[in-house]
Amino acid sequence: PTATRYPHIIRDASFKEIEEKDIAFFRNAIKSPAGVITSEAPDELEPFNQDWMRRFKGRCSAVLRPTNSAEVSAVLKYCNENRIAVVPQGGNTGLVGGSVPVHDEIVLSLQNMNKIREFDPISGVLTCDAGCVLEVLDNHLEKQGFIMPLDLGAKGSCQIGGNVATNAGGLRLLRYGSLHGTVLSMEVVLADGRIVELGKPLRKDNTGFDLKQLFIGSEGTLGIITSVSILAPRRPKAVNVAMLGVSSFEGVQELFKYAKSELNEILSAYEFFDRTCLKLVKHHIPGIREPFETDVPFYVLIETSGSNKDHDDEKLSAFLDHVMTEGLVEDGALAQDTTQVAGMWNIRETITESLAKEGGNYKYDLSVPVPKLYSVVEEMQERLASVGLFAKDGSASGRVKHVVGFGHMGDGNLHLNLTSTGWSKDIEKAIEPFLYEVVQRHGGSISAEHGLGLMKAPYLRYSKSDDFIDLMKSMKMVFDPKGIMNPYKYFPS
Ligand code: FAD
Ligand code: MLT
Ligand code: ZN
Repeated sequence: PTATRYPHIIRDASFKEIEEKDIAFFRNAIKSPAGVITSEAPDELEPFNQDWMRRFKGRCSAVLRPTNSAEVSAVLKYCNENRIAVVPQGGNTGLVGGSVPVHDEIVLSLQNMNKIREFDPISGVLTCDAGCVLEVLDNHLEKQGFIMPLDLGAKGSCQIGGNVATNAGGLRLLRYGSLHGTVLSMEVVLADGRIVELGKPLRKDNTGFDLKQLFIGSEGTLGIITSVSILAPRRPKAVNVAMLGVSSFEGVQELFKYAKSELNEILSAYEFFDRTCLKLVKHHIPGIREPFETDVPFYVLIETSGSNKDHDDEKLSAFLDHVMTEGLVEDGALAQDTTQVAGMWNIRETITESLAKEGGNYKYDLSVPVPKLYSVVEEMQERLASVGLFAKDGSASGRVKHVVGFGHMGDGNLHLNLTSTGWSKDIEKAIEPFLYEVVQRHGGSISAEHGLGLMKAPYLRYSKSDDFIDLMKSMKMVFDPKGIMNPYKYFPS
């Protein structure tokens, strides 16, 4: 589908429009030849103006790609003095429209800041530029027996700076916790150009406010993250993956309880997806086959990670024997080698890509108490059927083709997704704010891990109080008093 611009968001007239003299300044400040892209090369600009989902589109006429913090500093200082709005951009894989301009804000891409600065194999601390791609970092650590504490389907494109800026969750959070725990320090460039170290790469440091925490999940609204120090765990020597088919969502929960109790310290992922997700993956991704002979409504991917293969194998087979004989699962398969492990993960990780290939993909990333997780999907299906937009029997007569649920069940995180042939205002209106009201009623969060960006900014009050939002605005004033960093997003207007 074609991405739309957002005409109802009025451009802040106090932001300066870019002129030739600004471009001349940027070309002088950024030394590398490909460091500044302008509207002279529209094809090169295009990918920076459009998000991964092809839903949000800006019209910036300058993309800056500095190679070091000093260049970032010079650019921001100039932008702040001249009131030029700036969108920080990492791998541009964000799913809430935060990484692309709304109007003509310039894009500051971290693409060319991609050096691994240091790795200490004693402490496990990795320090790198913010533009390093997550998968590159993980491959680097693998050679030394370590692992990145986070993993996502977008690992081949997303950058560690973008991960930190969105507080990405992903597939390893159950085991290693969130970035609020694993990021030890970072270097940031503030809107006025000051380069500030937020802490030191130490596990323990109780000197003053922990300001780095404010930047984790700040989505480019406070400043630019230019480097990150993160604690990398040892890479587990034994990894097992099993795929299980379950006949009801209650069954998925029972299985989760049992997995936590019996696999306990070796359980490293508990992901679920529904039958329609599998159907779409099979349709769009070459080589994906049905895991079991019979259809089931829910699939669970369980991963264990540990340091002793015999111990883990024994535990997992006892677990699988029990759940099969007791009828907790309909069917199951245990990956026999690393290829099968990768194959099972591939099914889970390509759900996002498969949904996107359907056309317009409305994505909702919610925290909901686990017992209510799937009833939210069913409520959404009912709602859309009642307004004639969805046919529950799958007879494609409605304009919404699929309403599916999958996600990080182990973290209480549901990904509710709808697909349609394109983007339409009336579909959007049938979903929002209805869905956010449901989430609020369940005491959940309207964004578990993808953030607020442009998409969820207007709805923040469904998750945060007015006093809380006022405090957020006060923090913004401290770091970016002129409001040049990623405007129109994150805060409700
Ligand atoms: P971008 O998309 O470029 O930017 C995201 C936000 O961060 C923007 O607001 C941007 O302005 C800001 N930003 C980027 N870099 C910086 C910086 N250096 N300093 C300051 N601000 C910055 N997310 C999850 O949480 N869990 C998942 O499991 C997950 N899986 C995904 C799978 C796929 C296939 C895709 C496409 C996306 C997935 N995402 C997931 C969403 C996305 O990948 C993450 O939010 C990721 O962390 C974004 O990183 P990025 O480098 O692409 O950032
Ligand atoms: C995932 O868990 O696969 C990601 O958060 C992406 C998505 O929600 O599509
Ligand atoms: Zn996710």
